[in-house]
Amino acid sequence: MVKGGDRLDGRKGAGGWPVGVLFSQSGVTAGIERTQLNATLLAIDEVNDAGGVLGKPLIPIVYDPASDPKIYRRLSENLLTEDGVRIIFGCYMSSTRKAVLPVVEARDGLLFYPTLYEGFEYSKNCIYTGAAPNQNTVPLAKHLLDTYGNRFLLVGSNYIYPYESNRIMSDLVVQSRGKVLDEIYVPLSAKPEDFDRAIRELRKHKPDVIFSTVVGSDTARFYEAYRQAGFDPAKMPIASLTTSEAEIAEMSAEAAEGHITAAPYFEVLETAANARFVSAFKQRYGADAPVTACAEAAYFQVHLAANALAAAGTDRPAALLEPLRGSEFEAPQGTVKIDPDNNHTYLWPRVARIGADRRFELIWNPGIRVKPDPYFIAPTLDEWWMAEAMTSVR
Ligand code: ACM
Repeated sequence: MVKGGDRLDGRKGAGGWPVGVLFSQSGVTAGIERTQLNATLLAIDEVNDAGGVLGKPLIPIVYDPASDPKIYRRLSENLLTEDGVRIIFGCYMSSTRKAVLPVVEARDGLLFYPTLYEGFEYSKNCIYTGAAPNQNTVPLAKHLLDTYGNRFLLVGSNYIYPYESNRIMSDLVVQSRGKVLDEIYVPLSAKPEDFDRAIRELRKHKPDVIFSTVVGSDTARFYEAYRQAGFDPAKMPIASLTTSEAEIAEMSAEAAEGHITAAPYFEVLETAANARFVSAFKQRYGADAPVTACAEAAYFQVHLAANALAAAGTDRPAALLEPLRGSEFEAPQGTVKIDPDNNHTYLWPRVARIGADRRFELIWNPGIRVKPDPYFIAPTLDEWWMAEAMTSVR
């Protein structure tokens, strides 16, 4: 068993490009982060099998930060000082990114962050490849408001991403003259009874929609509690940005069915690049290994980093940023592009519902690549669509 902080792989100075890999294999978000680790190592092997970067392999130095911001911070310090690493692929929870980024900035590293998050951040030492709120929260809100109604109840895990994501969702609900009926937080690594209050409030308010920012293995507990309470997802679905194939794999089919997620990627997407990605992933990690939006971002960001490394010939962040900014890659979700304005990524928003077989079914797939707007400057619910159309590239 690997303990938090243990080093798992990699060799120092072995004639390649050392890269740090920080995804948890233990703790509350291990399920989703393992998909990110798997995808990162798959992409690193693809780069190395194709000859590496300028003839030298990427050498992953992998630690288990155990879903703990303090361990994340310590390991990022180790990577940047002792292991001779400048590039780090890592982080799921925003609390862990916020623990790592000051170290990365102080030590002149470059963090590639492959997770949806709350936005309102920029660092020249970070490339953000997960969705910003205009690329997932807005399309989700639009779908929910058009389909179910405007009385929302918010349930989240107790840390920064849920607070901030709820603030953005609340703004959108109020913009549509709706109402947020309550906002409830449960501790990370929640016990089943931690959801009792949420269930009581759901019974009392009967909202049109529940917006869940619960993360990791707590997600299954919440969906199971909802199911046991006898609620009907056709009338009052749980909608989320953090319920992916990984969290669904931890719950029963009955608890999962009918609920909704917005993301730029789902395992079921039918693109040629996704057929190759899913096939390689399953071959390596097993037929039941979940493939998630966060894994897909972890996968394509390694390829973007390797291409930039080949162009720059050095892993110094300032030199890497030149070729990275504006660079594109044919990712499984569609061709993605790093926005030179803000170091975030042009992505393809989609909304899906979980079917009886625990697989997602797409219910809104507009086929538009959306410019990231991390400071949420443009969007109102209606103008959002106009802004998209103007910046769309197929
Ligand atoms: C998250 O904490 N960014 C999911």
